[in-house]
Amino acid sequence: MEIANRLEGIGEYYFSKKLREIDELNKAGKHIINLGIGSPDLPPHPDVIKILLEESIKPNVHSYQSYKGSPVLRKAMADWYKRYYKVELNPDTEILPLIGSKEGIMHICMTYLNKGDEVLVPNPGYPTYRSAVILAGGKCVEYKLREKNNYEPDFDKLEQKKLKKVKMMFVNYPQMPTGQLPTKQLFEKLVAFGKEHNILIIHDNPYSFILNEHPESLLCMEGAKDCVMELNSLSKSHNMAGWRVGMLCGAKERIEEVLRFKSNMDSGMFLPVQLAAAKALTLGKEWHDEVNTVYHKRREIVFELLNLLGCKFSKRQAGLFVWAAIPAGYDDGFAMSDDILLKSGVFITPGGIFGSAGNKYIRVSLCSTIENFEEAIRRIKN
Ligand SMILES: Cc1ncc(COP(=O)(O)O)c(C=O)c1O
Repeated sequence: MEIANRLEGIGEYYFSKKLREIDELNKAGKHIINLGIGSPDLPPHPDVIKILLEESIKPNVHSYQSYKGSPVLRKAMADWYKRYYKVELNPDTEILPLIGSKEGIMHICMTYLNKGDEVLVPNPGYPTYRSAVILAGGKCVEYKLREKNNYEPDFDKLEQKKLKKVKMMFVNYPQMPTGQLPTKQLFEKLVAFGKEHNILIIHDNPYSFILNEHPESLLCMEGAKDCVMELNSLSKSHNMAGWRVGMLCGAKERIEEVLRFKSNMDSGMFLPVQLAAAKALTLGKEWHDEVNTVYHKRREIVFELLNLLGCKFSKRQAGLFVWAAIPAGYDDGFAMSDDILLKSGVFITPGGIFGSAGNKYIRVSLCSTIENFEEAIRRIKN
């Protein structure tokens, strides 16, 4: 069967392929330590699971749910934005619950892009931005994020580009994969840039609670709703990656536009999941502190591992990963990753999967146990 042209240039997702390869190695008895993917291994808060259990037993919770999500969940999302980000959102009109933020990236592209419309995407950056733009018929225009520029867009260079056809720009701070935190000045520049060029800025914000004392939202900037939509997620912040709960926040008109597309794609989320997610969003700072204490300890050992590998890295990174420059001697992060996998049975993500600007880097996930990190160090030493 001939596949659709829109899949041209879109391969299977890197991790989908790599995990199969790792599976094969494990079946052959290799016991690979996977330090690749950012899927939290810690459980959600017990109260969250309790709500899921209690609600699932009820007889009247199994029907289709509203396309706009339960009012209880939307209110919890609005309260969460107010409490932690100091952003006011109307729960009835300015929030759209999502089945994970990844689907939101696709919905936004399908809602706004016509064939040939251009979208600014970060290099390095989350690969889904690129594939969603292409699948929706748009054209990616990369902007490079460089270490010497604190992984911020170079606005002078952006201004030199022809921006007439650019309709949207994807940004993501704390940035994945570089771990770069945002500054107020950066947020100001992004909103000003969006307004000046009539570009919809899509801020993808799933990492603000991880190894970061001050979660920030781009929507807190004055007048941001005029040109910004923000994606957020419970996957990383609440250890609920498999539950698939995220949200899109922005102006009423934008939410209605995206709902017009999304309501044709799915039929809502299981109500007990929504009610449990609402519970998760009421958790206090002490819960996030507890989770971050674990990540802090793990990160110290990851620093040790990276020193052993001869990598250079900043200790001021947020999010679930450590991003590190590879030592001389390897052509790129792919060669280094393959070498470590082959010789030590440890998988580390090559930075090049996030774009060419990541070629000389690797990324280590913090979603593994201390014992695994220690075993990885032992194997690499041997
Ligand atoms: C930058 C970034 N955005 C979005 C996502 C998707 O998260 P979700 O689980 O909410 O779909 C990820 C997941 O790895 C990510 O790294």
